[in-house]
Amino acid sequence: MELIANFQTNKNSIAEFARIMIPEAIDEAIVLNAEESGEGIEMRAVRGNNTAFFSYRNLGFLVEDQKSTMIKILLLRLYGKRHPWGSLTGVRPTKLMKRFFLNGCSAGEIRDIFENFYQVSEEKAALLLEVVQKEMALLNPEAMNVYIGIPFCPTKCSYCSFASYELSGGVGRYYRDFLETLREEIRMAGNMLKEDRFKVESIYIGGGTPGILGEDELKDLLKNVRDNVENRFLKEFTFEAGREDTLTEEKLRILKDFGVGRISLNPQTFKEATLLKINRKFDREHFDKMYELAKEMNFLVNMDFIIGLPYEYTEDVLYTLEELEQYDPDNLTIHALAFKRRARLFQGNKERNPLDRVAIEERIRDLTGRKGLRPYYLYRQKNLIDWGENTGYARKGTESLFNMEMIEENQCTLGLGGGAITKLITKKEHNRDFVQRFINPKDPALYIREMRARTAEKLEKLKLWSLQRQERTTSAPM
Ligand SMILES: C[S@@+](CC[C@H](N)C(=O)[O-])C[C@H]1O[C@@H](n2cnc3c(N)ncnc32)[C@H](O)[C@@H]1O
Ligand code: SF4
Repeated sequence: MELIANFQTNKNSIAEFARIMIPEAIDEAIVLNAEESGEGIEMRAVRGNNTAFFSYRNLGFLVEDQKSTMIKILLLRLYGKRHPWGSLTGVRPTKLMKRFFLNGCSAGEIRDIFENFYQVSEEKAALLLEVVQKEMALLNPEAMNVYIGIPFCPTKCSYCSFASYELSGGVGRYYRDFLETLREEIRMAGNMLKEDRFKVESIYIGGGTPGILGEDELKDLLKNVRDNVENRFLKEFTFEAGREDTLTEEKLRILKDFGVGRISLNPQTFKEATLLKINRKFDREHFDKMYELAKEMNFLVNMDFIIGLPYEYTEDVLYTLEELEQYDPDNLTIHALAFKRRARLFQGNKERNPLDRVAIEERIRDLTGRKGLRPYYLYRQKNLIDWGENTGYARKGTESLFNMEMIEENQCTLGLGGGAITKLITKKEHNRDFVQRFINPKDPALYIREMRARTAEKLEKLKLWSLQRQERTTSAPM
């Protein structure tokens, strides 16, 4: 797309937006004109015989690049496009909204900005407001969280691009050494967490499928975590149990004994024919047994679902939602299927079944409303337009702190294990964040080889970050 403008534009950002939202515009030329006055910014875009206008008050430091957003709106108008998320394509719209609150805007002002500036639908703006207001009461930047990644699964689901290898496949030969190396990484990290009195508020063991660990391996991992990760401030301990085919009653008991309070049991869909086709074993009877046991043992239970799975039509999704009526999960996470290049399913195939979004959303609203589940965290995937959001729902008081903190990038995360990401977050001017990332290799062989050097480096950085934060806090005016 060629942009001919009487002002500086962020051409890369606009081109990326157009590539996803308006692919037909790729070879076209657009003439842009912007005028700024005390009232605000007025912009005009011309494409052949079509002209679009957009004006909005000058938002100053509240937004990073007001004109780029306005160009996106103008492009949508020129090409007659309307999306529920308007001009927003970022992964963290709640984080964007939260910054307006931190910068002193009122809820009414923010609603206006989202609906009339970013052109988000009324419904999505209300959803964002509900989530952000809930999060702001629960987020705690003074604390931190620990993520432990186990990148092995019983089989690889065809849609999945997460760090995960089939245990029975070639990479499976590194499994034991991986666990040994992870044990060492946890020990190295634990020593330092104690030394510096970091406040670990939540721990999340995810993957992959950590439930794949045998009973003794599981005990060993959890004992290692208990002995090493300072837990004086711990409020939440989650284990991604995920696939029922890895679970036993004994494993649930072990989790309970070591203080895990929250687990996931993920059907993804209740259509067993779909699960077979996407290479995911599922035994409904065993799932039900694990669910009932988990409830009896007083775990908070989350369930993950994916909307838009291959081979599924609207009636299949509605069937799954109907079946879900029989359960009472404390948390529910509804994902929109994302096309990720690394996933087997999408290599060379971007076909998807058209779904009746309105009917499905209505059913979800109805079901969650009756079960007392309210949205509490939300994120989006890059390549999605309509179903472009993943929403976590929770019964009041059971919201996962880890999920909120991760999506908001509010706390520092120490990532241990395969593919785990460590994030150190520093607040800058006008509540913008500077995020330093350290990513553990997904590949177990590489992880095993490089763990010591990488862990030493990231722990050093974490120590430095915490000292600098301490300095900033003590030197801040009272
Ligand atoms: C990292 S996976 C781990 C969960 C666990 N191994 C399981 O499969 O139950 C977390 C969740 O991401 C979701 N997910 C995975 N691939 C996805 C995709 N391509 N699009 C949308 N959601 C996806 C699934 O709902 C899955 O439960
Ligand atoms: S969805 Fe879960 S079980 Fe399936 S491959 Fe991905 S991480 Fe493994």
